[in-house]
Amino acid sequence: MDTAATTRSPETARAPRYAQVVRLSKKAEWQIDRDLVQGRTFDFSRKFLPDGLSRVDRLTFLSADEARLLSQIQGRTYAYIFGLVERFIGAKMLDQGRGHVFGDQLALEALVRFSNDEIKHQELFRRMETMIGSQMPAGYRQVANPNDVARAVLAASTWSVLALTSHIELFVQAHYAESIAPREELCPLFRDVFKYHWKDESQHVVLDELEWKDEHARLSPAERDQAVNDLITLVAAVDGILQAQSASDADYFFGSVSRSFSVEETIQVKAAMLSAYRWQYIISGVQHPHFGRLLTSMTTPAQMSRIQAALAPIMNS
Ligand SMILES: [Fe+2]
Ligand SMILES: [Fe+2]
Repeated sequence: MDTAATTRSPETARAPRYAQVVRLSKKAEWQIDRDLVQGRTFDFSRKFLPDGLSRVDRLTFLSADEARLLSQIQGRTYAYIFGLVERFIGAKMLDQGRGHVFGDQLALEALVRFSNDEIKHQELFRRMETMIGSQMPAGYRQVANPNDVARAVLAASTWSVLALTSHIELFVQAHYAESIAPREELCPLFRDVFKYHWKDESQHVVLDELEWKDEHARLSPAERDQAVNDLITLVAAVDGILQAQSASDADYFFGSVSRSFSVEETIQVKAAMLSAYRWQYIISGVQHPHFGRLLTSMTTPAQMSRIQAALAPIMNS
């Protein structure tokens, strides 16, 4: 017997939301070359990632050229990290779609479109790496392999993977709307990449929430408690990647500039990079009001305290 079909919440209540996501997703449909790139290249005379995300403006001893380079290195990593997480997000949504094959066909279509979007985004981010890499000095390194990360993440409980996905896709919204869209001085192509990405992610956050709540309703209290442990483990794994990538990116920066820095300045750059990456990929999501509401509604106060205790060293760094 198909347990997924019998334990899902009543489809009638959810159907209009899936129908709306499919309608909006069709309306927003775009292609990488035809609509976004349009033969353009990245403008290296401008910053890529805005200061609101990169926080390079806090390193006041950097020259304008150095600050711009650091923003471009972080922008390159920004595309890499999204390509990385989208490997497991796309795979997870294919799995979630499987649960709808004999149910609401619009839910199935919505999740297939979601997976398809993530495949397109990964292609986009690979293209970006090739385009940006061809114009930057050699030595840049990606510390984690997307398949290795996806295999590890997908071994965790569905509740925890959907929670992490919801967290990521909600901060994508906030990053674009609050930090990237208002900054007209950024490289136009870089800004447009994240504008088009944001369009699709606006639909994904709706589906993340529907699937996460649905999974929550299916679990026993003990399974939910284990899922919270899994989420804590996943966030720690994300932080491990950020520690390694920020250290690698700082070294790449030092190797790419033509002057040397004092020991104190070196320490400051490394610390600022880690704190920027933690801000981008963990803290800005944890502090997202809607994510906070969702997590609070799907955890007990004791589970929430466990999550907060685990996050404390990251949030206070
Ligand atoms: Fe995406
Ligand atoms: Fe997405």
